[in-house]
Amino acid sequence: MLHVGVLVSGRGSNLQALLDAQATPEFPARVVLVGCNRADAPAIGRAEAADVPVCLADRAAMPRRATRQAVLLQALQAAHVDMVVLAGYDEILDDAFVAAFKGRMVNTHPSLLPAFGATMHAVDEALAHGVKVTGCTVHLVTDDLDNGPIVAQRCVEVRDDDDVESLHARIRDAEHRLLPLVVRAFAENRVRIEGKRARVVAS
Ligand code: GRF
Repeated sequence: MLHVGVLVSGRGSNLQALLDAQATPEFPARVVLVGCNRADAPAIGRAEAADVPVCLADRAAMPRRATRQAVLLQALQAAHVDMVVLAGYDEILDDAFVAAFKGRMVNTHPSLLPAFGATMHAVDEALAHGVKVTGCTVHLVTDDLDNGPIVAQRCVEVRDDDDVESLHARIRDAEHRLLPLVVRAFAENRVRIEGKRARVVAS
């Protein structure tokens, strides 16, 4: 059983997708800890409803980013997580954090990277650019922001009448399907990382 730590900052719908996946007994991974940097994040309620412990390193209570990350790192290590998932976590992680989970930490990003990377406004920018297809990317986290090896992607069509909300809702739907597949692949040791590239092999 793969033990997963999930970092969140907001709504937590991707966290929910993992919690729903693990409600199926044959799912080979379990979220054992949720780390959060905002006390008002709805994601906290989702973790609590699933009886998953939460480590809160609140931005207001702990204004120094380094302090927050040290607290979260310690909690993840104490929980012996095998893997970390960034699911809507809104901070850049420092080098020590990234190094601690090298090859074992993924992020879900709401665009087809490398397009619209390194921004908190990927969906707005894709829409403003007039792209006809966008999507989501799950990639390994390295110290090169949003540029680590791509593990998996899904396409989402942009409709003429889309606004940011409607487009992001469909991208989220795609993320909710993709993220559990990626976590399962890690649990089944089916992710191969070869330099700048990653791939998922069949079981
Ligand atoms: C997702 O679209 C993710 O790609 C982006 O932020 C959003 C988080 O959504 N980084 P949620 O908190 O999981 O609902």
